Amino acid sequence: MKKTILTLQAQKDKNEKITMITAYEYSAAKLLDQLGVDMILVGDSLGMVVLGYEDTLSVSMKDMIHHSKAVARGVKEAFIVADLPFMSYQASIKEAVKNSAKLLKKGRANAVKLEGGSTYLPHIKAISEAGIPVMSHLGLTPQFVNVLGGYKLQGNDEFKAEQMIQDAKNAQEVGAFAVLLECVPWQLTQKITEKLTIPVIGIGAGKFCDGQVLVWHDILGFNLDFKPKFVKNFSDISEGLKAFIQEVKEGSFPDKAHSFNASKELLNKLY
Ligand code: KIV
Repeated sequence: MKKTILTLQAQKDKNEKITMITAYEYSAAKLLDQLGVDMILVGDSLGMVVLGYEDTLSVSMKDMIHHSKAVARGVKEAFIVADLPFMSYQASIKEAVKNSAKLLKKGRANAVKLEGGSTYLPHIKAISEAGIPVMSHLGLTPQFVNVLGGYKLQGNDEFKAEQMIQDAKNAQEVGAFAVLLECVPWQLTQKITEKLTIPVIGIGAGKFCDGQVLVWHDILGFNLDFKPKFVKNFSDISEGLKAFIQEVKEGSFPDKAHSFNASKELLNKLY
């Protein structure tokens, strides 16, 4: 059955953890869907982990639609959230609604996510009122890296922690279906999760929230440039790749089980 915002809300209400993993293409999305992940995030992290940019700022609506469409083709049940990329919503509420609609109409996502606190409440309200489920991303918001001064822990002083609690409550108030908290102390996550009736998904935010998200590449140990403290490699893709290189070099791959056999008749005709 296709998951919806109601499924996710029911999971929060039943205290059943929500899983979310990023995907940027068909095969990965299909595998995640078959494995039963609740939500797939077509994150603008795509700019860094797939396209090799140094930050997420260069990601365009065209990139997001292209990758969201590929993900959607692989998914039957998981709920797909696509990121609104940098400058697709910041400039105006109208742009925010128009670009959110494009992610649903062309990208076939089920919801959008946008980064930012109180300034973006009117945007969340308008997107949600337009019939588009919207997730609010608070804490470390990578599109704002230049004003944050780097990829740092957020909400670690009283003023900023209070502000984050208020932003999360307000996001819920104006219609967000969920809040994502990135890189915040676990105690703050716990407080926000207790205060909100909508699901709170964390990344680098500790375990006291309704669900967890990680980037596909980080789960599989692709951390080529940088590995944040909160990332756990659940599997090591390098091991499989090293084995392929070694087996080809030593001649043990491909073996008979992975090769095609010609019939005797064909061989007799050839010699
Ligand atoms: O773009 C992304 O992958 C994200 C996650 C880090 C939450 O926003």
